[in-house]
Amino acid sequence: MGTFLITGATSGIGRAVTLRLAEEGHDVYGIGRDEGRGADIEAASPRITFIKCDLSKDEELEAVMDRLKAMDVTLDGLFNNAATFGRPGTPERLPSSAFDDVFELNLLAANRLIQLAVPLLTNGASVVNNAAIVGHVKFPPMLGPYAASKAALIALTKTFAHRMKGKVRFNAVCFGPVDTPLSHKLYGGEAKFHEAMSHHFRGNAAKPEEVAPVVTFLLSDLSSYVNGQAITIDGGYSLS
Ligand SMILES: NC(=O)c1ccc[n+]([C@@H]2O[C@H](COP(=O)([O-])OP(=O)(O)OC[C@H]3O[C@@H](n4cnc5c(N)ncnc54)[C@H](OP(=O)(O)O)[C@@H]3O)[C@@H](O)[C@H]2O)c1
Repeated sequence: MGTFLITGATSGIGRAVTLRLAEEGHDVYGIGRDEGRGADIEAASPRITFIKCDLSKDEELEAVMDRLKAMDVTLDGLFNNAATFGRPGTPERLPSSAFDDVFELNLLAANRLIQLAVPLLTNGASVVNNAAIVGHVKFPPMLGPYAASKAALIALTKTFAHRMKGKVRFNAVCFGPVDTPLSHKLYGGEAKFHEAMSHHFRGNAAKPEEVAPVVTFLLSDLSSYVNGQAITIDGGYSLS
């Protein structure tokens, strides 16, 4: 059994991946900011340890990784999952500042975490970065900073995969719409999200539990020949 570090473990896709890994018998360190939801995931399994950390603050991230190092933790995998979609807006009018928080969390924190995690990763470990179809195969006009951050995350994924030569594998998952608080917010509320999803290629969005096995597969040795890829998982959404 392995040990995994998951960001954004308190909600949505990260939570589903955290619970699934624990069910499979792995130890999981789950990062998030919300202590209440952190306590909920810890209550779900004794294998889950919640770590409170705002990933956009370098000093908090460094303190977390120092703590894991001091505990002699080694990691079999890392899921860089926490993200924000920032402020939607027409690309010709968005100020440069609209990119700041989005790139800080979605790209720079992910990069920093990978850098700090490398010494803890075992030979054969796997890193999965949560990109999106937005930034890979679909480019809605109002989400420029988010799409650009995800496209950059895919490039970073491939760069690390090349650099690590298979000693650690790096892949990006590019999900279509998933039923989570983030997507509800993006569509202006849960009801509007479900109305929009009725026009999805297959009639609804995925639940986090439906997509979590893709991530746990990529984190496992079962995917040992999958490296440096950006994989679209969207139930056919991008075909329409
Ligand atoms: N939902 C979709 O349709 C969809 C589609 C494609 C890709 N994705 C990607 O999937 C990933 C997860 O999204 P989700 O839909 O599952 O969202 P979610 O349910 O809103 O979960 C986001 C998670 O990120 C954590 N988080 C946010 N900012 C953080 C920060 N500064 N520091 C630490 N943790 C932070 C949140 O924890 P706290 O609140 O506890 O801080 C929460 O656990 C994102 O990368 C997103 O871009 C989502």
